[in-house]
Amino acid sequence: MTRFLFLLGAAAVAQAKLQKGVDIHCVGIRAHALHYEVEGEETNGDSLAEVRSAQINMEPLPSRDDHCLALSKSENRSQEVCYGVNQDASCAAAKADLPLESGVDCKNLGAEAGLFYSLNYTMLEVNAVAVGFRGMTLKGALELHTSPSASKVAMKGSKVLRDNQATRVVHTLVGCPVCVRVSVSVAMPTTLDYSLALNDAADLTVGAEMEVEIGDMSMTWEKKHGWKKSVETKPTMTMSPVLSGNVDVRAQLGLQMSSSLQVDIDKLAWYHVDMAPSFPTRFELKDSSSTSPTLCSDSHAEFSLSHEADLHVSMFNKTHEFKHWGPVKDFSKGKRLHKCVDVPTDEGLVIV
Ligand SMILES: *[C@@H]1O[C@H](CO)[C@@H](O)[C@H](O)[C@H]1NC(C)=O
Ligand SMILES: *[C@@H]1O[C@H](CO)[C@@H](O)[C@H](O)[C@H]1NC(C)=O
Ligand SMILES: *[C@@H]1O[C@H](CO)[C@@H](O)[C@H](O)[C@H]1NC(C)=O
Repeated sequence: MTRFLFLLGAAAVAQAKLQKGVDIHCVGIRAHALHYEVEGEETNGDSLAEVRSAQINMEPLPSRDDHCLALSKSENRSQEVCYGVNQDASCAAAKADLPLESGVDCKNLGAEAGLFYSLNYTMLEVNAVAVGFRGMTLKGALELHTSPSASKVAMKGSKVLRDNQATRVVHTLVGCPVCVRVSVSVAMPTTLDYSLALNDAADLTVGAEMEVEIGDMSMTWEKKHGWKKSVETKPTMTMSPVLSGNVDVRAQLGLQMSSSLQVDIDKLAWYHVDMAPSFPTRFELKDSSSTSPTLCSDSHAEFSLSHEADLHVSMFNKTHEFKHWGPVKDFSKGKRLHKCVDVPTDEGLVIV
């Protein structure tokens, strides 16, 4: 076996070509630089059999985002890649409320992130792989809106807001004629569990807006040292309660979302960031007998973050390395949210 490898190596040396360069790829309107240095014999990218070594590195290149924006406009296709649920073309706001049940709907949740990936391969061996996200931000409004016409005052359910269908964001060959395929996909499966108990049908909007700056998250696997975290994250979180309504109401609301931002490098590795915001909330009308009643909500908002990675190098139709990491919890933060709003009272509305 050793001798076979030696001969194969020697043959490659004889005709080896060195290809080096950088390509710009647009993932939605975000530019990414794909650096490569590939050495080997001519090959079409179907396998690494003829490749002596390959160093590949992909990272965001914000200075070229304008190029990607112009491209997406000139090509006149909605090629925004929003990672998230129910976002409009800007990827930041909700498209329209998502119906959950008759008379009840909810808003949006989106993640913004650049992709990061690197590979160090030398003949028949993967030396190192790194994969993850750069400059990640989670933004959204987790709100429930009920209308007075809702047929039920108590409900409980679970809804898949986005399934685990992946979008291929990069699919290219680098280094040709010593071609090496780079194929990257992203998915963001998201589920919302909700429960609501009202004393009466009501026109009510309740929930929270949040923004979590997560920053860089990635994992590196090295043949010698195994998995290690590439960077330590210290997320910052802002949450503010959302509340409006105009009737005498007492209610209990439970909102719990689980969402996972996932990047997959074809036949090599994946990396998942799992996020779980939740907002159990109780709300009721205070001073209901006065002329200026207020509606108050009390929530205990929580946000937790964990990550998980998997390496599954498959070459020549055989899985050569199989290493799993996690899930590992990175962060969990709770916050009490309290908000009161004046309930509009007009002549026609009598509050008792
Ligand atoms: C862009 O696409 C839209 C819808 O597909 C079409 O209505 C519009 O005419 C197109 N614009 C150009 C400049 O091609
Ligand atoms: C790739 O891995 C090999 C073996 O571990 C190492 O000698 C080399 O320096 C690495 N190359 C890069 C660009 O990191
Ligand atoms: C790998 O398997 C696929 C189908 O299972 C086959 O078409 C392909 O030729 C195989 N590749 C190699 C390098 O054996």
